[in-house]
Amino acid sequence: MKVAPSLLSCDFARMGEEVQKIDKAGADWIHLDVMDGHFVPNLTIGPAIIQAVRPYTRLPFDVHLMIDDPLDYIDAFADAGADIITFHVEARSDIEATIRKIHSRGLQAGLVIKPHTPAEAVYPYLEKVYMILVMTVEPGFGGQSFMADMMPKVRAIKAECAKRGLAVLVEVDGGISEKTAPAALEAGVDVCVSGTGVFKAQNPAAAIAAIRTGGKKI
Ligand code: DX5
Ligand code: ZN
Repeated sequence: MKVAPSLLSCDFARMGEEVQKIDKAGADWIHLDVMDGHFVPNLTIGPAIIQAVRPYTRLPFDVHLMIDDPLDYIDAFADAGADIITFHVEARSDIEATIRKIHSRGLQAGLVIKPHTPAEAVYPYLEKVYMILVMTVEPGFGGQSFMADMMPKVRAIKAECAKRGLAVLVEVDGGISEKTAPAALEAGVDVCVSGTGVFKAQNPAAAIAAIRTGGKKI
């Protein structure tokens, strides 16, 4: 599995160094959580911060928008240096128009579903997206417990993609550590986001390696 450490759990006063540290530790992507205080009850970072940390690594920026109106902000995040932009099916923007806008900027588009949203909600868009992100916590905060009962949703989406001959990636986000990664690996997850599991680990490189191999130490 690819591992995308979430900067939500890093030292915000040293974001550039934290990105370099996690790059050296073997991260595949950098996951950036954008919250607007409306779609979720928390405020985090915006395009200015993403632009500021962009020069510190060449790793892909996986930008997770937890905002009400993603379509209005695609240009801002594209300009800031996003490579993959994921937005929620539960948000207010027109889904097809938002995917088209992301593609028009030459970026990969992903759709995210919250724990109470069924897998079927993304089925109409599978042909159009690079990735589906299945939330394994309620979005809004780092450090919550992994919801193992989301794994059937991962399997259902993987099966639907296989049936249609599509190579859509499935990412999970929330409560992933070397302890919970085995369940994700078994379910067929392609990309694991991990905030506290990597940044609060004594050895982030070991934590990334262990998540990548589904909890097995290498
Ligand atoms: C939660 C965010 C996650 C969060 C994960 O809304 O989307 O990316 O940072 O943090 P952990 O890995 O600590 O659950
Ligand atoms: Zn996230």
